[in-house]
Amino acid sequence: QPLSVESNDVDLAGFPHYMLKEIHEQPESLRNAMRGRLDDENATAVFGGLNMTPQQIRTVRRIILTGCGTSWHSALVGEYMIEELARIPVSVEYASELRYRNPPIENDTLVFGITQSGETADTLAAIRETKRKGHRTLAINNVVGSSIAQAADGGIYLHAGPEIGVASTKAYTSQCCVLAMLALYFGRMRHLSFESGQRIIEELRMLPNAVAEALRCDATVKEIAAKYHEASTFLYLGRQYNFPTALEGALKLKEISYIHAEGYPAAEMKHGPIALVDEHTPSVFIVPKGTTYDKVLANMEEVKARGGPIIAIASQDDPQVQKIADDVITIPDAPGLTQPIVSIVPLQLLSYHIALLRGCDVDKPRNLAKSVTVE
Ligand code: G6P
Repeated sequence: QPLSVESNDVDLAGFPHYMLKEIHEQPESLRNAMRGRLDDENATAVFGGLNMTPQQIRTVRRIILTGCGTSWHSALVGEYMIEELARIPVSVEYASELRYRNPPIENDTLVFGITQSGETADTLAAIRETKRKGHRTLAINNVVGSSIAQAADGGIYLHAGPEIGVASTKAYTSQCCVLAMLALYFGRMRHLSFESGQRIIEELRMLPNAVAEALRCDATVKEIAAKYHEASTFLYLGRQYNFPTALEGALKLKEISYIHAEGYPAAEMKHGPIALVDEHTPSVFIVPKGTTYDKVLANMEEVKARGGPIIAIASQDDPQVQKIADDVITIPDAPGLTQPIVSIVPLQLLSYHIALLRGCDVDKPRNLAKSVTVE
């Protein structure tokens, strides 16, 4: 039986909306995702429900991550994480495509269905179809006892607590966090050194506090929302780990503010989206210090030269970004793997505040459902 939690079962805890409450719960939901799963002694992660022996894990040669909507975005983050730490080739598939596409899947492929609800019809069907063909399937899922938890061979729960707001927030960051721990786990089964494993554990442990610090941008974000809430198109641009952040930031805005938004890898901008840039079209750049920082700065200059307003999500004390951008939201420094989990926070808040100013129903946006159990 599909399980669902109704909004009236969950207290708003003094927040005006579930979405805002869930955004603010993220330091805690991330702690819960990691609880009992970081193994200092072996510098790795541990999971209770994969139902696979270390020998079986060792033989995995390819991973498919599949999901829909926000969960599909977390899969894109997971692809970069797993390939970087474990050097296992990863493909990301829209579940709705995978279920009918019949792609060649070699033996020793592991298929993960990623879904907050565990009830999304396409994700469930993609997992059932790949399982039927004899592939091992695992679920990354929030709702205990959901249909996908029952259908898959094993899985990992997010332990994020009930998510009521239709636009997913805390489930997304927990999915990214679980995928980071999976990347660590697979990496440590292969060539990732003990020292590197320790470093990643340390970075993960710093994550809840970094997210708590990022939440302090709320007042700044509110001002920026007031300035731009009447725009009819937004561009979201980021690279590497922040390319999925750009997609997810744009999706949040579309879902709850009904504003057209495009997320793109920043360097792809010149292949089309730059034609949209004018003085009425804000571009949100995710440009914290790190790899490709300089390249993204150059993209910002290109937008500025064409008169487009720029909102930047940047590291603290970054005079270069301050000089180019019209508005800057600062986030704490977070190393590579954890960066997308911190940088999405201001974008969640931006969509929330813009939606409020436009009089939208943030928790129950028009035409959308929390979980889509039909095709
Ligand atoms: C619906 C929701 C989205 C969500 C998607 C996937 O479209 O409105 O917010 O990302 O389903 O949901 P899932 O429960 O599978 O993560």
